[in-house]
Amino acid sequence: MSEVFAQLVNVVGTGKVSSAISHNLLGKVRFGYVLSREFEKAKSLAERIGATPVTYSQDFLLNGIVLFGLSDSVLKDAETLVNGKVGEITAIHFSGFHPSQILPRSWNPASMHPNCAVADENVSFKDVLFGLEGCDSGLEVAKEIVDIIGGRYFIVPTDKKVLYHLAAVISSNFTVGLASLSEKIYEEIGLDEKTARELISHLLQTVGDNISKFPIDVALTGPVKRGDWKVVEMERAAFIEQFPQFSKPFSSSHDCGLYDIFIDILKDIINKP
Ligand SMILES: NC(=O)c1ccc[n+]([C@@H]2O[C@H](COP(=O)([O-])OP(=O)(O)OC[C@H]3O[C@@H](n4cnc5c(N)ncnc54)[C@H](OP(=O)(O)O)[C@@H]3O)[C@@H](O)[C@H]2O)c1
Repeated sequence: MSEVFAQLVNVVGTGKVSSAISHNLLGKVRFGYVLSREFEKAKSLAERIGATPVTYSQDFLLNGIVLFGLSDSVLKDAETLVNGKVGEITAIHFSGFHPSQILPRSWNPASMHPNCAVADENVSFKDVLFGLEGCDSGLEVAKEIVDIIGGRYFIVPTDKKVLYHLAAVISSNFTVGLASLSEKIYEEIGLDEKTARELISHLLQTVGDNISKFPIDVALTGPVKRGDWKVVEMERAAFIEQFPQFSKPFSSSHDCGLYDIFIDILKDIINKP
């Protein structure tokens, strides 16, 4: 029998990712405890997945699989939080930044990081790629959980998690920062917020589709790719006017901070041998 089906699955922290993973596991595993700082939150999730709600001050013993859906800043305190309440467990957390080793070795730890933005518990993990790492036994459990919820996985070197997470931040967070600059310009030229967001999301979706089909240099479109340097120059002046706070010189070859740096990054793509 598989590890996940044979054991109870417990949930520590009722945040977005642990709630979403629990919902995706619903009907496929047996749940034990749901643990939260607030009993009402534990009860709310526990009622939906058929688990037993508890708070940290109650008496209970965690056995089996424990999903630690704690914020990154709190993971280091996990051992203290459940001190004296842990039996034989396989502990799994969801951070892309922290290695599994942030949890005690005796907990057979692994991490499974979903490469998608989880805004609520209704997210489906079908075909989502998870970055996994951990000790052998923890990793086996993490792989099974990903299989059960319909995801896919790859192994991340444990000592490369900071770099691995940086890559995700650049693609998924920096793009939102850049989108906010586009939104300001759309507002400036009189478009309403809904239209602006629709434009941005469509542009990002089509770029995403292209990147999924083609190498980055083929997926790139726009003035740099076409060599329309007059357009690049005129939009540089417009960028400086719109965003003086991001246009401070960065180095002798980057007079206009952010804009010049991005143009250089795009030139690197098209000049790739
Ligand atoms: N959201 C995403 O898109 C996403 C994507 C990939 C990976 N992740 C990773 O998934 C993990 C959870 O993220 P999340 O987005 O689900 O966060 P979240 O919604 O903010 O949930 C974090 C949970 O941690 C618990 N917590 C927070 N502060 C605490 C404290 N001082 N003491 C004890 N418990 C505390 C809370 O649970 P209770 O209130 O129930 O106690 C809270 O609901 C993180 O490692 C994150 O990096 C998130």
